[in-house]
Amino acid sequence: MAVLNKIGIIGGGISGLAAAKQLSHHHPVVFEATDYLGGVWKHCSFKSTKLQTPRCDYEFSDFPWPQRDNSSFPSHIEILEYLYSYAKHFDLLKLVKFNSKVVEIRFVGDRDNPIPKYGGGCLLMAGNPVWEVAVQTNQSETIQWYGFEFLVICTGKYGDVPKIPEFGNNKGPEVFKGQVLHTLDYSKLDKEASTQLLQGKKVVVIGYKKSAIDLAVECAEANQGAEGQACTMVIRTLHWTVPHYWIWGLPFYLFYSTRLSQFPHQRPNQGPLRTLLCHLLSPVRKGVSRIIESYLAWKLPLDKYGLKPNHPFEEDYASCQMAILPENFFSEADKGKIKFKRIEASSSKWWFGEGGVEFEDNTKLEADVVILATGYDGKKKLKAILPEPFRSLIDFPSGIMPLYRGTIHPFIPNMAFVGFIESVSNLHTAELRCKWLGGLIDEQFKLPSVEKMLHQAFQEMELMKTTTRFYKRSCISTFSIHHSDQISQDMMMASN
Ligand SMILES: Cc1cc2nc3c(=O)[nH]c(=O)nc-3n(C[C@H](O)[C@H](O)[C@H](O)COP(=O)(O)OP(=O)(O)OC[C@H]3O[C@@H](n4cnc5c(N)ncnc54)[C@H](O)[C@@H]3O)c2cc1C
Ligand SMILES: NC(=O)c1ccc[n+]([C@@H]2O[C@H](COP(=O)([O-])OP(=O)(O)OC[C@H]3O[C@@H](n4cnc5c(N)ncnc54)[C@H](OP(=O)(O)O)[C@@H]3O)[C@@H](O)[C@H]2O)c1
Repeated sequence: MAVLNKIGIIGGGISGLAAAKQLSHHHPVVFEATDYLGGVWKHCSFKSTKLQTPRCDYEFSDFPWPQRDNSSFPSHIEILEYLYSYAKHFDLLKLVKFNSKVVEIRFVGDRDNPIPKYGGGCLLMAGNPVWEVAVQTNQSETIQWYGFEFLVICTGKYGDVPKIPEFGNNKGPEVFKGQVLHTLDYSKLDKEASTQLLQGKKVVVIGYKKSAIDLAVECAEANQGAEGQACTMVIRTLHWTVPHYWIWGLPFYLFYSTRLSQFPHQRPNQGPLRTLLCHLLSPVRKGVSRIIESYLAWKLPLDKYGLKPNHPFEEDYASCQMAILPENFFSEADKGKIKFKRIEASSSKWWFGEGGVEFEDNTKLEADVVILATGYDGKKKLKAILPEPFRSLIDFPSGIMPLYRGTIHPFIPNMAFVGFIESVSNLHTAELRCKWLGGLIDEQFKLPSVEKMLHQAFQEMELMKTTTRFYKRSCISTFSIHHSDQISQDMMMASN
């Protein structure tokens, strides 16, 4: 028999912790599949992984970092410590069920009308279970069922499920004589094992984003000296990388993170006057992007290594793709320890051969180890536990989840999603939405109609598509202040 509770939270990463704190007066149950808090900061971090957001921007509003003015970027271990202190300080640990993996969710609300109707609101009557959740504990066979009025999904966009490229017959890892692993496997290795894996080996890293870049540096560091081998990065799409948060002597936040700097950027649902203004101000926007591009091209040897992207910097920023470079990335490239192999994004075919990786241009890269830094498939985690018809609706119709206020799927009743939209600081983004969610659940304000929520979510998605060709991430970074303003307005109207 299912145990009935008001609120269930799935996931004990940053989003789950923020939700637990903001909803703590309802005594939610937090299910965490592993035996630790912190999600990606534990399970997909390398030994060199650091925060790439400035420390004071990755901070809970009511719990400052111990040395918040320290300008260095905390290591993943420091981040985990910070998260544990937060959980302890607000007495959240008692809410968490560790080693408790949600393996199935069932809808037990209005079964004749599971999908909220056009014109109707989205929260069902309180007092009855709407969702039942099957929880597997400590990987045992026994399943415990829990019933909830409201579920908050905080399972994360990264980690847990690696994105593995598909290969044709006899072209996959099975034909390769060496070792193939994903960065998720690599992150499970301790210092000794990771050095052993890389040292003296010809390593090919597939990818050119943050995991790939950090890994290439770890690989170079393990291969110092004459005996050391080079690590080669296979690059499908070039992106702008940033060495630090200073551009021509000015702090980076001035370019995109103030009201003034976000003013020329389009917002969802803006009126004709604002559209005209944005059009008139587009040279300013493009100018800002060019200033940053000129700095990066001057500061980094991008031309020398053929790593200068053809697209504007602002498209990477608008899609949350910006990666901070480790200090010694290009010095290792200068030493010949990191090499680059470009493949055309339009015909990005590569496959495994016996001795390494082969490409359409008839070139080959010999390898002992190939590491796929090809990212994660967070939606797969979600789809594995959500029941139909909701599973099919999750990213209908355009491949991105339509989330009202970045939190509510208009067609899924009594459920919220935290951690699925991104910005420059995902902690801040998640925390604010959890505060808003607290107000919603406490009935301080109501959701608008399904049409209105869909309209708003679609406007945001359309905007993401027009501002960047890399829009797949649900990224609000160029209109984050406006997004936060709307959320704050909902909450302020409620308190007035
Ligand atoms: C290596 C790395 C570094 C990053 N660096 C930054 C950064 O510098 N700045 C920034 O803003 N963002 C960064 N990000 C993005 C990062 O994902 C977010 O900042 C944030 O940590 C995500 O937290 P989350 O709680 O949403 O997800 P996660 O951290 O993924 O947590 C999800 C939790 O849910 C649990 N879970 C999943 N499925 C189930 C289930 N079925 N049942 C029970 N539990 C489940 C998992 O075990 C996990 O603990 C980084 C991401 C990665 C991978
Ligand atoms: N704070 C930190 O230090 C830190 C460290 C690691 C990760 N992160 C964060 O974690 C998240 C995940 O980052 P990630 O780097 O693991 O993954 P990611 O951002 O999804 O990048 C995946 C990379 O693999 C490439 N790729 C995917 N499939 C490919 C294929 N079939 N052939 C060739 N290349 C392929 C992608 O190329 P395309 O661009 O062409 O798709 C991209 O370069 C991001 O939000 C990132 O910011 C942060």
